Amino acid sequence: MSHAPPALPLDPAPPTTAVVDAGTDVDHEAWSGVHRGPLRAGEWVRLVDQKGRKHNFALEPGKRFFSNRGHLEHDDLIGREEGFAVPSSAGGEYLVFRPLLSEFVVSMPRGAAVVYPKDAAQIVAMADIFPGCHVVEAGVGSGALTCSLLRAVGPRGRVSSFERREDFADVARRNVTQFFGGDHPAWQLTLGDLSEALPASGEQCDRVILDMLAPWECLDAAAQALRPGGIVCAYVATTTQLSRFVETVRLHGGFTEPKAWESLVRDWHVEGLAVRPDHKMIGHTAFLVTARRMAPGERPPRKTRRPAPGAYGPDYTGPRPAEVPEPADDVAGDLPAD
Ligand SMILES: C[S@@+](CC[C@H](N)C(=O)[O-])C[C@H]1O[C@@H](n2cnc3c(N)ncnc32)[C@H](O)[C@@H]1O
Repeated sequence: MSHAPPALPLDPAPPTTAVVDAGTDVDHEAWSGVHRGPLRAGEWVRLVDQKGRKHNFALEPGKRFFSNRGHLEHDDLIGREEGFAVPSSAGGEYLVFRPLLSEFVVSMPRGAAVVYPKDAAQIVAMADIFPGCHVVEAGVGSGALTCSLLRAVGPRGRVSSFERREDFADVARRNVTQFFGGDHPAWQLTLGDLSEALPASGEQCDRVILDMLAPWECLDAAAQALRPGGIVCAYVATTTQLSRFVETVRLHGGFTEPKAWESLVRDWHVEGLAVRPDHKMIGHTAFLVTARRMAPGERPPRKTRRPAPGAYGPDYTGPRPAEVPEPADDVAGDLPAD
């Protein structure tokens, strides 16, 4: 007896005059950066060729798009519902959609390295960014994370971004404005070092997200700005940064025990019986750390578990938790840390 699943009915042949109910456009007041309905002049589209190569451009009446597979007219795209294949003059074929946020941020112009979409998703979920939330972030870099934060807080929240380099701030402003199609009402961009500019502003907030080389230098400013129960979240690329940030949070004392992790995303190839992980993957982006702000004057309970032998031995030179004594000069860090 065959266990083959019944064949699924094929999609019916497309109607000759396509009737698509794409609804009206997304409410502009939602500031989602998303549009529905026919492609309009001025909107960005993303073309993907048969080899997976991507091309993003803004639609302009009368303009031509050129590639190594010939050309096609923007006018042939304007007015159509996204989600179609279009031939080019030299026999190529392109898939046409509006870019998703996750696609936009990896193709937009960059000043500094961006937070990858998989990590932006982790930050939004694990730092618990909610509609109406007041988030402080630094540095703004190219504005990739800013777009995800603004999406999550919505127009009635607030994202206060701090960036100390004017050239990066300009890149970010252009990218964020392009994605949302205007000046997002919840966004404020301040040029300056977070460690000085945030305390000077007197802002109070629910979340502080730090994506920079030395986030430990901004911890006091973050602690001062965070409301009790708020979350500090750092995105750091190396283990040395991870260690220094975590130990600085512990030493500060006004936060819960920090939680550190990374996420690995592995795509899968699924074709008939050939079902296996893809050969290539992005093996490393960065580590994430979160900790919650205690109420003023409150301290988290002391840890009952002692540090692993040697964890803070003579070779350790970073910030030292208050309850961990300096090792005696003649005592080696006997056992390796677990
Ligand atoms: C890796 S980039 C940030 C990328 C950004 N999160 C994104 O997704 O596009 C780091 C940025 O932090 C900025 N920066 C470093 N330390 C800073 C500080 N103390 N205050 C403000 N900006 C800072 C740098 O100039 C740089 O633009």
